Amino acid sequence: MISSLLEGKKKLAVIGLGYVGLPVALELARKMKVIGYDVKSDRIALMKKGIDPNKEISSEAFKGCDITFTTDPDDLAAASFYIVAVPTPIDDHKQPDLGPLINACETVGEHLSEGDYVVFESTVYPGCTEEDCVPVLEEKSGLAYKKQFKVGFSPERINPGDQIHTLTTIKKVTSGCDELSAEVIASLYELIITAGIHRASSIKVAEAAKIIENTQRDINIAFMNELSMIFKKMDINTFEVLEAAGTKWNFLRFYPGLVGGHCIGVDPYYLTYKSGKFGHHARIINSGRDINDGMGSFVANQGLKKLVEMRKDIQSCRILVMGMTFKENVSDIRNSKVVDVIREFRSYGIDVDVIDPHASPEEVREEYLLELKSKPQPPYDAIVVAVNHDEYVQLKEEYFLSLCSNEALLMDIKGIYRNGLKKLIYWSL
Ligand SMILES: NC(=O)c1ccc[n+]([C@@H]2O[C@H](COP(=O)([O-])OP(=O)(O)OC[C@H]3O[C@@H](n4cnc5c(N)ncnc54)[C@H](O)[C@@H]3O)[C@@H](O)[C@H]2O)c1
Repeated sequence: MISSLLEGKKKLAVIGLGYVGLPVALELARKMKVIGYDVKSDRIALMKKGIDPNKEISSEAFKGCDITFTTDPDDLAAASFYIVAVPTPIDDHKQPDLGPLINACETVGEHLSEGDYVVFESTVYPGCTEEDCVPVLEEKSGLAYKKQFKVGFSPERINPGDQIHTLTTIKKVTSGCDELSAEVIASLYELIITAGIHRASSIKVAEAAKIIENTQRDINIAFMNELSMIFKKMDINTFEVLEAAGTKWNFLRFYPGLVGGHCIGVDPYYLTYKSGKFGHHARIINSGRDINDGMGSFVANQGLKKLVEMRKDIQSCRILVMGMTFKENVSDIRNSKVVDVIREFRSYGIDVDVIDPHASPEEVREEYLLELKSKPQPPYDAIVVAVNHDEYVQLKEEYFLSLCSNEALLMDIKGIYRNGLKKLIYWSL
């Protein structure tokens, strides 16, 4: 398989060209013929021009790649190796929504031939690949799993906005449905991953490994958020406590904050869903989720308390929220918890302006029915710095003072200005 791919006798297809699929498709397209397939024609149109719709990859990275971008599923018939990287979100009831994944399996299944490989990169609960995806591939292709086509799972571990830990520099976990496929799949990724490969013993182990990486982060951040709630009552700054505790060699470095995005705030629900199927109520994971999902409203209520202490007339207050994306220095607004802060303030009749140099006003309007302002329109009674974008980290007190009315509050969710403010009333998690 690998030599046929390298010699151009066989082609590889990547299904779903987002944060995960596009980098892997481009990297592989430096070594072999790749078909990049996505259901969104506007995204494919940009990629055909060498533009990453997510603005994570430079146009330079498209150069020298042997890749055909398409929205036509019939083009997939030419492929022999499929990598699936479609979204795995949750629904309104916080249950796994396998819709895009099953849809991708149907598309691949319809074009699968004997001897083909399908590798899933989408984050799922342990067992999903073989229990939910394989039956669809079998049904649509009429082929027998393991005998006529092979399947594997290789989770992606990229961290959006992180320029150091990228696809090729992060050790990759791979797995296959039998010894031969495990080796072929590992060899494929070895072509592009400089950090090396970890061969997991089974598909389930690889699925579970990925899901606990993000669940572990979620639980640790929830612990920090709970500490922040406790220390607030004791009038202790949590970031100062963490700085002191962090001087011990085995103290883990996590910080309080809003847990948004489509990974850390979503993946644990895949694990709790599956553990529920086995009759186990995942208490620690669910508690962590509960705390983290409530942080937006906690932050807003802390702000309201401060404004009342400052004897402000709440309903005539104006608040500026700086940062709308789910984390710093990215344009991704999906599942941003900043919106919880905004909605909570607005539910009290407060006028809230929102700015963000990275977020697209159109996407924010479409996703949250919110209008981003192109620049602040002072004066404000409070400013919430919700995301530590590089542009915000370097701001000084004079800048905030220039936007504020006489006595104003600065809510610094990430604790970035805690040593540099003298005149503003200060709050951080
Ligand atoms: N973004 C990350 O940092 C990250 C990191 C690790 C793992 N993951 C996981 O990887 C998977 C993909 O995430 P992402 O962030 O790349 O998502 P994304 O939303 O950025 O991209 C997914 C792409 O798939 C396309 N798509 C949806 N349904 C499709 C279908 N049926 N057929 C073809 N294309 C389809 C969408 O149009 C989109 O372009 C998810 O399971 C996610 O949890 C993401």
